[in-house]
This record gives sequence, C-alpha cells and structure tokens, in this order.
Amino acid sequence: MSLRFHSGAHFVIRVASLPQKPDVLVESFAGGGIISLTAAFERLADHVVMVELDEHIASVWKTILGGDAEWLARRILTFDLTVDSAKAELSKYPDSFREMAFQTILRNRTSHGGILAEGAGILKHGENGKGILSRWYPQTLAKRITNITYIISNITFIEGNAFDEMERLRNKKSAVFFIDPPYTASGKSAGSRLYNHWNIDHIRLFDLCKTLRGDFLMTYDNAEEVRKLAEQHGFETRPVSMKNTHHAEMTELLIGRNLRWVDNEDAFPNSH
Ligand SMILES: C[S@@+](CC[C@H](N)C(=O)[O-])C[C@H]1O[C@@H](n2cnc3c(N)ncnc32)[C@H](O)[C@@H]1O
Repeated sequence: MSLRFHSGAHFVIRVASLPQKPDVLVESFAGGGIISLTAAFERLADHVVMVELDEHIASVWKTILGGDAEWLARRILTFDLTVDSAKAELSKYPDSFREMAFQTILRNRTSHGGILAEGAGILKHGENGKGILSRWYPQTLAKRITNITYIISNITFIEGNAFDEMERLRNKKSAVFFIDPPYTASGKSAGSRLYNHWNIDHIRLFDLCKTLRGDFLMTYDNAEEVRKLAEQHGFETRPVSMKNTHHAEMTELLIGRNLRWVDNEDAFPNSH
C-alpha cells in the first residue's frame, strides 16, 4: 500500500501548498489508493475521485465505501490465518463482492511482495521468519478500514477506465490528477508481473495529460523510453529515490508540466 507513497508524497505536498483548494482530486490508477485516502483525511480537495479497473481491487473499495466496512473489518479479525486456511480461502469462488474484497486483502497480505496478479505465490517462509503471518496485522487492517468510514462522503470510487474519467474531467481547471499507471512503457519494466491490468497505451496517456486543464503529476519508472515520451510532450521530469517492494533503492520519475516546485519543496510551509 505504501509502495508508491514516496512519489505520491510530493503530490500531496504540492496540492497542500496550492493557493486554492482543488474542487476535485483524481487518482486515476488507484490501486491501494493511498493518495486518495491521504487527500480525503487531510481535506486537501473538496472531493476525491478514485478510478480502478481491476475487479478484485475494485471490490475492496466498493465494499468499504459502499457500507460494508464493518463487515470486512470483522471478517479480517475473525479469520484464523494458516497456510492451509489461506489456500482454502483463496481457491474459493467468491459469491459476493464483499467476499471478493476479503480474498483480495488476504492475497495482498499473504503473497510474495503483496502481488495481486494471477499466479503470485503465497508466503510460506515469510519475510521475517514469521511465515504466512509476516504481513498479517488484522487489528491494524481492521482499524484502517473502519477509519475510512469517516471520509466516505468525500470519496467517489469508479470501477472503470482511467482514460474515460480523465477525458470526462479534462476541461475542469480546478481538478488535480495523480497518475500512477502500471510501469510498462519500457522493455524491462515490472508492471506486467505486478498487475492483472497492465497493458495501457502510454502514448495516449501522455497525449491526454497534455490536454488536461488542471494540474497533474505522473509517476513512472525512470527509463529512457519514458524520459523521451515526456520530452516529446514538453513535460518536465525529476528523478526521485524510493524503495521498491524488496526494499531496494531505485529511482522513479516525476513528470509534470512544471516541476520547479519539487526543487523548492523544503521551502513549502507544513510540508513535512
Ligand atoms: C502502479 S499501480 C497504482 C499503485 C497505487 N498508486 C498504489 O499506491 O497502490 C497501477 C494500478 O492501475 C490499475 N490499472 C491498470 N490499467 C488501468 C486503467 N486503464 N484504468 C484504471 N486503472 C488501471 C492497475 O490495476 C493497478 O492497480
């Protein structure tokens, strides 16, 4: 969930420092939705819109934002996690989207690197000698989920295509967009291994960003192909360092129309 937070943090700081609060903040490839949640808790925009295409991830947001957060929290708290119980649970066909939501969270917390893509193996040895329980913190998860109920009215979740929603809001000057697509624009990118929906038209995404009237920040892997696309569209880029799921230091690329504010971030009030 916090995987992309490093680059997302720049966006949050930027939005918080805007002279005028945006009407709407859009997280168009929402995944774990950390930017949307932060923005909604901190009241950084009047409204937050999250868009996600993957039905499994969408089931989590639909369950939490649709009134079943307490149910999901309870389901997590009462689940007795073992390798066998996880395997049995994950091999079931979910009969409702709230059950699908539970499975998605279970898969995320028990698969190697939190990967949700089909075929990701489950943790047997764990990441700190605790086996399958290494990343299963039921109390914390349940608390996070129930806390979201306080901000439900500030968030709209859309199960759909990021492109459609960005098209719909592209003439809105008071909208801001955080765009964190699967990283598949360069040959050696990992996006296709991490997500079920990874095959996106990156040129179309850059073209669309060029037409947005509101401000936007994209994050990508720092690859030659991506830097070239940004340059062709007249966007600025800044590499920032972050840690990936294996805690290796790597750089991501921030892309926007004008990124001078990134260089001056230390000068922002309340930015840390
Ligand atoms: C890099 S991840 C986003 C990570 C997210 N920012 C986070 O912090 O968890 C990209 C997400 O975009 C979703 N996705 C892929 N294609 C999409 C599309 N066309 N529209 C909406 N979401 C899409 C994937 O399912 C995946 O969850």
